[in-house]
Amino acid sequence: MDYLKKSSSISVSTIFKLSLILLCLLLVVVYFWKKRWLYYYSSILPGPFSLPFLGTVRVAFAGQKNIFPLFENLVKTCPLVWRVWIGNQLYVVTSRPNDIDKLLNNFLSKENILLYDFNEENLSSLFTSRVSVWKIHRKMINPSFNQQIINSFTGIFVKYANVLNEGFEQNCGKGSVDVLTMVWRCTLDTLFETLANVDPKLLRKGNDKFVCMILRYERLLTERFFNVIYHFTFFWKLSVLHKEVTQIVNDMFDHIKQLIDLHMKTKFSSIDSSSVIDAEVCNNNDNLKEKAFLNHLLTKELTAKEVLEETTFMFMAGSETTALTISSVLLVLSIYPEIQETIYEEQCSIFADIDKDATLDDINQMNYLERVIKETMRFLPPAPYLARDIEETTELNSHVYPAGSAALIPVWYVHKYPEFWPNPLKFDPDRFLPEEIEKRPRAAYLPFSYGYRNCIGLKYGMMSMKAILSTILRRFKIKPGKYKSIEEIEVEFHFVGKSKDGYKVAVEKRGN
Ligand code: HEM
Repeated sequence: MDYLKKSSSISVSTIFKLSLILLCLLLVVVYFWKKRWLYYYSSILPGPFSLPFLGTVRVAFAGQKNIFPLFENLVKTCPLVWRVWIGNQLYVVTSRPNDIDKLLNNFLSKENILLYDFNEENLSSLFTSRVSVWKIHRKMINPSFNQQIINSFTGIFVKYANVLNEGFEQNCGKGSVDVLTMVWRCTLDTLFETLANVDPKLLRKGNDKFVCMILRYERLLTERFFNVIYHFTFFWKLSVLHKEVTQIVNDMFDHIKQLIDLHMKTKFSSIDSSSVIDAEVCNNNDNLKEKAFLNHLLTKELTAKEVLEETTFMFMAGSETTALTISSVLLVLSIYPEIQETIYEEQCSIFADIDKDATLDDINQMNYLERVIKETMRFLPPAPYLARDIEETTELNSHVYPAGSAALIPVWYVHKYPEFWPNPLKFDPDRFLPEEIEKRPRAAYLPFSYGYRNCIGLKYGMMSMKAILSTILRRFKIKPGKYKSIEEIEVEFHFVGKSKDGYKVAVEKRGN
């Protein structure tokens, strides 16, 4: 009897173990079966060696510091369309403008793209939200970025550019100085006043703290991206990094909540009567204020959390990209004094009095400065990669982009592809003369992305950057700090692309 009992208990546990193994095997088979088309299409595209779950081995172990040079090398050596696995996500990397045009116009979803998804977990906004939510929010927010509203911000752009100039003045003759944080503070303060009508000096913690929070947040998300273990939510949530991200996001929300409170308090304050000429202008100003971003958002049917998230992201996205571009322009001008002098000559032709504050009319005449900004973004795009989910299998120019994969667009490389950019390493602002633009496919240049889900702040960005750079360059000469040639500038991936050694230039007062 005893013997029988023992043998039946052994067989029950063995059966249990076997069933468990079989179940795991079954799950693995189902997993691979579901992805069979991805594996098939992946096998016919060129690309580096990859393993299931881990993905492309070289990429998985590259780490944040090496990822940009590694990708740079892969993009340059692979054909125009190739594939890479990051974890268990297949990316089809394409540098062909005609394909990019179709992909960015047809596909809007970013749900399955890891870096966007990690962001969405903490901070859901236009940038990462599901297409159904994005459509509603984008329609709501679009009116706040129309040209008339942006034109009305000119005075504010110039006001904060003058504050930035005071910082430059203090650094005159002190040798090499990294200008990024100073410029970022300026772009962030400008956004607070333009989009929320709040004086940033009223905030308990200054905007410098907010800049530090954004930097740390981006660093943590990139760390997660480059550690395959943290792709699994279970392991990520156990990590100390996850706790830190949660804390930082809460701190950012506190800062923006305070801004919203201040906005509510100033909402009904009278408009600046010194700028009002007559009743019609007064009404017009009122209408523009109504439509300004935060005011407009608060009138919409959104939850308090949605308002908080959209506002937080808007300040993050709008301030860093413009600060990076302005700082990059200053780096470039420190290397090319002749281009700096051409900008100065253009400024002298616009301003009878070179110390005068710029008006809208002045800014609209700064065509050469605009071309320099555009050429800088060709060379050093703040968003060096873009990605979209491929929602249905699409064949373009005899290459298949399979449903379930993602398209990855190496913007920095598209911007240097010799077929569209002859002599690509030459810094030449005249590539953006209207007759030159006409010669290229439209999607050969995409610093603000492209298609329906492009950057909502494009016009704001261009206008603020022109106003700020004009104010700086009329008063100061920018001299080399670290770099002697543009090819020396190495870029690192921190969510956005940044110069590895910072934005160091020397500043001298003009006329000295
Ligand atoms: C030099 C300046 C700027 C550059 C290079 C830039 C670049 C970009 C790029 C490439 C995207 C699309 C990302 C993607 O497709 O995945 C984007 C989206 C976005 N940008 Fe900008 N941006 C700039 C300025 C601004 C400004 C000034 C604001 C706000 C005031 C802003 C707000 C946004 C928002 C909200 C999105 C998400 C749009 C959506 O998905 O509907 N950006 N930006």
